[in-house]
Amino acid sequence: MSRKAMCAVPPMGWNSWNSFTEKINEDLIRETVDAMKKQGLQKAGYEYVVIDDCWSMKERDKDGNLVPDPEKFPHGMKAVADYVHENGFKFGMYSCCGTRTCANYPGSFEHEYEDAKQFAAWGVDYLKYDNCFKPQHLDDRNLYRRMGLALANSGRDIVFSACQWGTESVHEWISSSGAHLFRSTIDINDSWNSIKDIALSQMDKTAYSSAYCHNDMDMLVVGMYGKGGDEYISAGGCTDEEYQTHFALWAMMNSPLMIGCDVRNMTEQTKKILLNKDLIAINQDIECRAPFQVQCTSNSPDTYVLVKFLSNGDIAIGMFNFGDTPTLAAVDFWDLGLPTSAGKCLEIYDCIEHENIGKKSEMLTATVAAHGSKVYRCKMVEKE
Ligand code: GAL
Repeated sequence: MSRKAMCAVPPMGWNSWNSFTEKINEDLIRETVDAMKKQGLQKAGYEYVVIDDCWSMKERDKDGNLVPDPEKFPHGMKAVADYVHENGFKFGMYSCCGTRTCANYPGSFEHEYEDAKQFAAWGVDYLKYDNCFKPQHLDDRNLYRRMGLALANSGRDIVFSACQWGTESVHEWISSSGAHLFRSTIDINDSWNSIKDIALSQMDKTAYSSAYCHNDMDMLVVGMYGKGGDEYISAGGCTDEEYQTHFALWAMMNSPLMIGCDVRNMTEQTKKILLNKDLIAINQDIECRAPFQVQCTSNSPDTYVLVKFLSNGDIAIGMFNFGDTPTLAAVDFWDLGLPTSAGKCLEIYDCIEHENIGKKSEMLTATVAAHGSKVYRCKMVEKE
């Protein structure tokens, strides 16, 4: 059988872990599917519905098969997959490269090929593959290659989401394992510090993310407001300004956009952030160009400016203020590769306020709120 090239651009969807941890069941998945349709998330591009850890029985059956917990999934996984598919979504599940998953359910070590076959039979389109309980004598390269190869030969097109947490210089080798995305950080939680630490830890790694193998900065906490599935994830919650910055960072840094909140109960502000078509378009740009950093000497040390070249010649500029007070941020067009001698200026569109702010030459400046962000899409035009 011929396999499709999958995940040209970062995957978008929803994952159960952040809000529900082990409190998952088939009703939740059905209601999530319904809500994603009704709230316009599907239309905006969110495609994968992923069940994370804690879906199976604590042990395999006597033949070595993984068994869905009948209390959580009384109709089995195929029925869940069918519902997800009937509604136009793709179905994701979870396993682990060690002997147990992180929440202590059976992992896939030494069962990789039979599990991949089982996932394919259930109609799974995406497998998140975690990093706990690993045998000491094997390194991660070998463990992730095993499942990469098993999925590629499972008879079904299954996206391989390697959840490796960013150890062992994963960005340097993970693409060769067959992974379409790779978790590069420890688990996110619903706090500004977590968002900030993850974003800063990946600023120098953006060039390792590319079409067909994306740097996964973890599921979004947008819209959770401190209601995580456990104490670690809850972490106090964030302001809407911080959630907006979080989404803008993940979009600009080409991370997958996997929603982690309860989509059945979203505030208007949460919807506005998650449904931002201008930021989604930057994230989903077909060429997946890595953003680069520029810095004006006048900017505060807490200001980070990221620039991403888009496939139609436009330039996306993100200004991020990690500081606790508002700041004036500047971008010198020289640093973009646009010197005065070019005779061009940029027509600037604000991707958060969704408005044109006119033409600028040589310099763009903006006041950025504490923990805030600005993202602009800029079109090159002749100077008048
Ligand atoms: C962690 C992983 C989380 C979640 C959890 C499940 O290792 O990073 O995203 O999947 O395990 O137990």
